[in-house]
Amino acid sequence: MAPRKIIIDTDPGQDDAVAMLLALASPDEIDVVAITVVAGNVPLALTAKNALKVCELAGMTSVPVHAGCDKPMGRPLVTAEHVHGETGLNGPDLPEPTMQLDPKHGVDAIIDILRAEAPGTVTLCPLGPLTNIAEAFTRAPDIVARVQEIVLMGGAYFEVGNITPTAEFNIYVDPQAADIVFKSGVPLVVMPLDVTHKALVTKPRNDAFRALGNRAGVAVAEMTDFFERFDKEKYGSQGAPLHDPCVTAYLIKPDLFSGRHINVEIETTSELTMGMTVADWWRVTDRTPNALFMGDIDADGFFALLTERLARL
Ligand code: RIB
Ligand code: CA
Repeated sequence: MAPRKIIIDTDPGQDDAVAMLLALASPDEIDVVAITVVAGNVPLALTAKNALKVCELAGMTSVPVHAGCDKPMGRPLVTAEHVHGETGLNGPDLPEPTMQLDPKHGVDAIIDILRAEAPGTVTLCPLGPLTNIAEAFTRAPDIVARVQEIVLMGGAYFEVGNITPTAEFNIYVDPQAADIVFKSGVPLVVMPLDVTHKALVTKPRNDAFRALGNRAGVAVAEMTDFFERFDKEKYGSQGAPLHDPCVTAYLIKPDLFSGRHINVEIETTSELTMGMTVADWWRVTDRTPNALFMGDIDADGFFALLTERLARL
């Protein structure tokens, strides 16, 4: 079976970096056509530099990396240095990238790729705020029907919010963009905190990354050593939640995950609940299901896959 063509849209971010490494280490299953970068965890200049650093860490410098939007569609940018550090990729000491950004804007890259590839053959994998995706859909409505599927990290239901009491960070940063994406009609697979908070890098799991001894394994262990502080302090977690790698792991082994096809809508009016993913998990409304909303993961299988793939880099 031919590898699945994807565009990774990302705001690296240690967990974004691990998601990128997993995809780049899996060419039999995933063909990373392009990486588009968005402002989110840290401002765009840093997320763009971090994306380049991760491609070089993977030894994959031929993948085009495009900088996209530097702020949300209708709200001021909110960042998360308190989680990811000032650089957005605190932990490992990765060298300054020599790889250059592709000069084409990330939104133009999404539009052009979807128009150039056969309809239904490109999957979008947003790992950050949905600004680039929504801007592309707004500027070029013809591409919406050409998208095979969107597999994204964002939202929460049982886990509620991680940036406000009700909202998960990616959706909260750009709720207007999320509303456009969730109402687009494109088939959605959603990895919310409900599942990503079960993908915890416990010490044995992080020791296994470090024991790989290669640059990628050691770097991921060092990223996790930094990234786990926030969740350990806030939730008393056993380790860092690997939010974004759930997206790329799903593309390789979807059976690692389980969820429900339900209706999910985005709060865009009330400041109290802004960015909340209102997930009809119990199907108490007659709203049309629009998303496969994940609730559970085979965590041991996930980490076995991730460790085996990192060993390849
Ligand atoms: O809430 C977690 C999400 O926000 C992850 O994608 C993390 O990288 C940040 O972007
Ligand atoms: Ca992210």
